[in-house]
Amino acid sequence: MKIEVYETYNSVKEADIRDKLAVVIDVLRATSTIVTSLNNGCREVIPVSDIEEAVDISKNYDREECLLTGERNSLKIEGFDLSNSPAEFTRQVVKGKSVIITTTNGTNAIRQAGSAKDAVIGSLLNAQAVSDYIISKGEDVAFICAGTEGKFSLDDVLGAGAIIDRLDREGIELELDDLAVVAKFLYAKHRDNLEDIMQKARHFNSLKATKYYEDVDYCIKEDIISIVPEYKDGVLK
Ligand code: MLT
Repeated sequence: MKIEVYETYNSVKEADIRDKLAVVIDVLRATSTIVTSLNNGCREVIPVSDIEEAVDISKNYDREECLLTGERNSLKIEGFDLSNSPAEFTRQVVKGKSVIITTTNGTNAIRQAGSAKDAVIGSLLNAQAVSDYIISKGEDVAFICAGTEGKFSLDDVLGAGAIIDRLDREGIELELDDLAVVAKFLYAKHRDNLEDIMQKARHFNSLKATKYYEDVDYCIKEDIISIVPEYKDGVLK
């Protein structure tokens, strides 16, 4: 099985993923939030790039049926129901709702994965479940890291490394590209204390400076969720 890791969604071209399973990763925090929301029983998640697009889509729903969510500069968008903090996406809040979400990087990465043969959402929270899903599909994999404002992001590469490590431990024969080798090595070296290496990530430190600092402790938990959201026709279920 061939495994590629793309350091940001900008580095992925349609032809790169047309015949592959894309796994989108934004550990801090978009994919962690989406996995949490679907695990807590929301009906669907609709990832969009722009605030205006999110508001337009919400007009197709009764206001009580949907939640407008997301962030800019890590903070809640004015007039929206929720930010991009997984702590806000509790069962009580999201159950049965359609969640419309726009974030700076993560939702763009998901949209980019729309041209892949199949696309799913990964994070540390559901790393084992994603590894099991990949094995069940048996397709070559392209990890699409969201990155942070067009740059490589340590937290995403560790997330990809966590899943590659699990595939490797299942005895799957893997053909890794260079960044996949780095991701696997980095995760294996730091698996026993992910917080230490995460502290070096730029986005970790910018979140620590906000009221959302506890999200970081949550997003680095491994294998506490066993669902794998699939992205089809613009919707995550
Ligand atoms: C993003 O999509 O850029 C991130 O999820 C930002 C954040 O932490 O809210």
